[in-house]
Amino acid sequence: MDELVEQPDRSRPPEATERLLVALDVDSRARALELVTALRGLVGGVKVGSRLFTMEGPSFIRELTDAGARVFLDLKFHDIPNTVAQAVEAGTATGAWMVNVHASGGVPMMQAGARAAAETADKLGRPRPLVIGVTVLTSMDADTLQQVGVSRTLMDQVVTLADMARTAGLDGVVASPLETAAIRARCGSDFLVVTPGIRGASAGADKNDQNRTMGPAEAVRAGSSYIVVGRPIIAAPDPRAAAEAIGRELTATAHA
Ligand code: C5P
Repeated sequence: MDELVEQPDRSRPPEATERLLVALDVDSRARALELVTALRGLVGGVKVGSRLFTMEGPSFIRELTDAGARVFLDLKFHDIPNTVAQAVEAGTATGAWMVNVHASGGVPMMQAGARAAAETADKLGRPRPLVIGVTVLTSMDADTLQQVGVSRTLMDQVVTLADMARTAGLDGVVASPLETAAIRARCGSDFLVVTPGIRGASAGADKNDQNRTMGPAEAVRAGSSYIVVGRPIIAAPDPRAAAEAIGRELTATAHA
């Protein structure tokens, strides 16, 4: 297989179109590869979540990473520190570029994950994956947060978890684009903020089940390091054209 997605230099901020990560929310290796091939050169990476991973396994992740793709392995680990460390070790061995854990698992759990990523990468002689904390799932609202015993406001909880992730040595967090500016203010400009929930402008008007959304350029202006886009690209009649449109919007903002 040819190089799928370029491996950019990690020491500099991402270029406009590198900020676009495409969620491969499909149910087969064949469909995922079709999309990756169609999107070659247009996106910064691809996100593989628990469905595709459970169906196709780590060998598929290795297939993508061996072909040069940047893979965000979105398995949201949440367990005791030892188990999370072992899971991150396994994720790192696939060559994933980014992995994530739930920030609500606590600082020791996140530290164990971050340490495992660094040590495993070191042993294998490759760059360590970025380790990102999931703050509050965008499907949650004030009521569901209260049901699980959180009395802080949603925004407060997100920013508190982001701060914990930073303290634990994580590279950044996943959050809704509406929370990005507050996270930036607390955690600084080097901290990565990865945002799904991208709709509007070049990402199309159909919100699907996303509620708290922003357009691609708007999200980057609010401080997103990477935007994660699924259905506006993968369910489009022409995924390549859809990704190109988002890329153009991001590039225009970068030069504005
Ligand atoms: O299709 P859509 O653009 O809504 O896809 C967004 C992707 O980001 C999906 O894979 C979804 O599971 C994921 N995600 C999300 N909200 C979060 C975390 C991940 O939408 N808080």
